[in-house]
Amino acid sequence: MSFTRPGRLGPLELRNRVVKCGTNEGMSRDGLMTDRLLAWHREFAVGGVAMTTLSYCAVAPEGRTFRHQLLMRDEALPGLRRFTDAMHAEGTAAAIQLAHAGWFANPHASRAKNIGPSRTFSAYAQGFSQAMDENDLDRVERAFADAARMAVDTGFDGLEIHLGHGYLLSQFLCPWNNRRKDQYGGSLENRARYPRRVLRAVREAVGDRAAIWPKLNMDDGFGGGMTLDEGIQVARWLEADGSVDGFQLTGGHTTKTPMYLMRGDVPMGEMIANEKNWVRRLGMRLLAPSILKPYPFEEAWFLPKARRFREALRLPIMLLGGINDRTTMAGAIEEGFEFLAMGRALIRDPDLLQRMQRGELEGSRCSHCNKCVVEMERSGTRCVERVPEAAPA
Ligand SMILES: Cc1cc2nc3c(=O)[nH]c(=O)nc-3n(C[C@H](O)[C@H](O)[C@H](O)COP(=O)(O)O)c2cc1C
Ligand code: SF4
Repeated sequence: MSFTRPGRLGPLELRNRVVKCGTNEGMSRDGLMTDRLLAWHREFAVGGVAMTTLSYCAVAPEGRTFRHQLLMRDEALPGLRRFTDAMHAEGTAAAIQLAHAGWFANPHASRAKNIGPSRTFSAYAQGFSQAMDENDLDRVERAFADAARMAVDTGFDGLEIHLGHGYLLSQFLCPWNNRRKDQYGGSLENRARYPRRVLRAVREAVGDRAAIWPKLNMDDGFGGGMTLDEGIQVARWLEADGSVDGFQLTGGHTTKTPMYLMRGDVPMGEMIANEKNWVRRLGMRLLAPSILKPYPFEEAWFLPKARRFREALRLPIMLLGGINDRTTMAGAIEEGFEFLAMGRALIRDPDLLQRMQRGELEGSRCSHCNKCVVEMERSGTRCVERVPEAAPA
């Protein structure tokens, strides 16, 4: 099978082409690693993936959306080292997703003012974000670079910098979020200036001690957001800057088009029931039907857009979005995508690769019900359709 062959991503040699993409686990406590979080990732490692991605670590306190979310700081380092040691012991590389939620960070969770490219009202934050000034820009750039250095010092092999889903760096790229009048707003070149600056700082901080890639939006998925042609141009600039070793391609905007980035069923009732804050619960009831516009699930739905990036770029690409079946996986590698980034397929079947190799499964059994997202906020990400299987007698 073409996807079981080793592959190279910058300085990294990976044992095959399957990467467990970042799916917020909801299992850290006080911003620190837990045994449960480590054990959850070990399942993907034992199941045979080449690399697993520890998700959504905030680079600065005000960039958090959840109170217990991992936060990069000295206190977190011993736990992160335990994590990378455990993944390496299984022959799997360890990646970390470094992010800042910017404008839609939750001040109730972070206990800090939310910041963004422009002053904007956020229903999530229930208030206005503060437009970043020069000091904020310098500080957050340093925070990304410091977080990258800490991650590499604790053994991470891959650094995924979030430039998608409407997180801070994607907010800079998105005209709807970025209404700045200075050198960081307006033209695409200006909107890309800050994300490019941050990625260069990350590269300077770690050199080639780890592979670096952006989780980059191809487009934001709504009128007024970043378009596909713009996304391709941003990717070209990042490639020319020499700051990245590859790309993970995604799309959509957490607050505007959340289902565009996920596809599948909308577990609306469960989501509303889960929200503890009554103001947000009411907001969800009123706004959910317009924001949670459904997008029916399609196998590898991002593939047609990703092909445009494949034509425009030389660096390796991780194809993402609804990859489930052996045929899709093999086809994507054969047509020139170097890696497959998979989320729900592996949450449902962490040992998918091994089972495919043994001829037991042709694809993941994930039904795209998206209830794992509800579980993430409730008690930790898990597949509700997965029942522990008895060990063979
Ligand atoms: C439970 C859950 C949590 C997620 N958390 C994150 C996250 O923290 N960061 C991120 O970039 N994407 C997150 N995603 C999106 C996935 O990384 C991925 O982009 C999306 O699920 C599409 O891939 P898939 O069809 O293989 O699941 C999450 C998805 C799920 C299901
Ligand atoms: S809960 Fe399980 S079946 Fe449903 S989307 Fe998540 S992984 Fe797939």
